[in-house]
Amino acid sequence: MNTTKTDVAIIGAGPSGLMLGHLLTQAGINCIIVERKSPDYVLSRIRAGVLEQCTLQVMEKLGLDSRLKAEGLPHDGVILADGERVIEIDVKGLTGSQVVVYGQTEITKDLMDASDSRGVMRVYDADDVALHNFETEAPCVTYTKNGEPHRIDCRFIAGCDGFHGPSRKAMPGSNTNYVEKVYPFGWLGVLADVPPATHEVAYSNHDRGFALSSMRSLTRSRYYIQVGLDEKVEDWSDERFWDELAVRLGPEISSKLVTGPSIEKSIAPLRSFIFGSMRHGSLFLAGDSAHIVPPTGAKGLNLASSDITYLSAAIISYFKEKQSDGINLYSEKALNRVWKSSRFSWYLTTLMHRFPEGGEFDRKMQVAELEYIAGSKAAQTTIAENYIGLPL
Ligand code: APR
Ligand code: PHB
Repeated sequence: MNTTKTDVAIIGAGPSGLMLGHLLTQAGINCIIVERKSPDYVLSRIRAGVLEQCTLQVMEKLGLDSRLKAEGLPHDGVILADGERVIEIDVKGLTGSQVVVYGQTEITKDLMDASDSRGVMRVYDADDVALHNFETEAPCVTYTKNGEPHRIDCRFIAGCDGFHGPSRKAMPGSNTNYVEKVYPFGWLGVLADVPPATHEVAYSNHDRGFALSSMRSLTRSRYYIQVGLDEKVEDWSDERFWDELAVRLGPEISSKLVTGPSIEKSIAPLRSFIFGSMRHGSLFLAGDSAHIVPPTGAKGLNLASSDITYLSAAIISYFKEKQSDGINLYSEKALNRVWKSSRFSWYLTTLMHRFPEGGEFDRKMQVAELEYIAGSKAAQTTIAENYIGLPL
């Protein structure tokens, strides 16, 4: 057995694990990130791309925001449409703040590229990662690499290993201590090197189902349409996708739609999942290992950033100032924000999708709500302040 000692063992090298690894290393706290997959695999995952201030602040604090500043697209507004009406919400005017459109994959890449020069220790292709003794103050993480067994002794374990990782599963009550809502549809997403149809991100509720117009740059678009859970990607040719998207975005937006070959196409189901506790003894959960939001509103990465902001501060204060308040309050503080973001994701999902079981009453409520939003500065402000991200 090869044994190493560190302060914090981090499981998972997605955005949560990498942000935490960088913030701790910057503060002089030793850590090691253990990741099951290869670097290339981690970078091949396509995810959402709307960054709230809390994500921008983490990247700025790390001094890793130069590409983000150069290539990210600051957005002053967001659009809600329903096939006829197009409601432009002036997010900047109503809140004084903005979001920045920049792919999550690019954030991951910026963090990965800076890891070696900053001494952020990472182990990729680690098999059989397991957590031990985290009810005590001397936990450890074991794994195998190239068939060799390894052990990391540490003071804390950070479970940043996403929804399917071992950290949450190791917690007491892992099968019962959660709240979940599964939506009866998924999103079919397409990435294409064509200029985006809208300057702002546009959410559209059409008779035939939801559609979303988003982008990664001025020459790369990201579009989604709501599809049934039984739909298969193979049944969606590019042509069929573009035709359906054009109808659902409505005539005004579709008049600017440019089509082209897809470079990625996939279907993801929508669900909300919130685990009851983000700490047990010396084990902390952060990001997708503790909670999942439906993508409507693009809160997933931003919640990972707020978790990591709280958790890094708590761990730094524990080692530097011998203070335990931060670690004791972490779960409560992080979950408070998780529930509020989940509420907004649920609200926007409910407002903008067609529910297979939904009757006429539900549909009339959507129309009434959209009409109310169109005419009310207060309603638009509520959406805008949630869209840019609630304060930490
Ligand atoms: N051992 C080690 N690493 C693991 C294991 C394991 N057994 N299981 C999973 N992992 C790794 C995954 O391979 C992945 O790289 O943990 C990482 C988790 O990364 P993400 O799933 O990206 O989760 P997180 O870092 O919390 O990022 C949250 O990602 O899923 C989106 O919408 C979500 O935007 C949000 C963000
Ligand atoms: C995206 O650009 O991928 C995106 C944007 C907004 C969302 C979800 C995804 O709500």
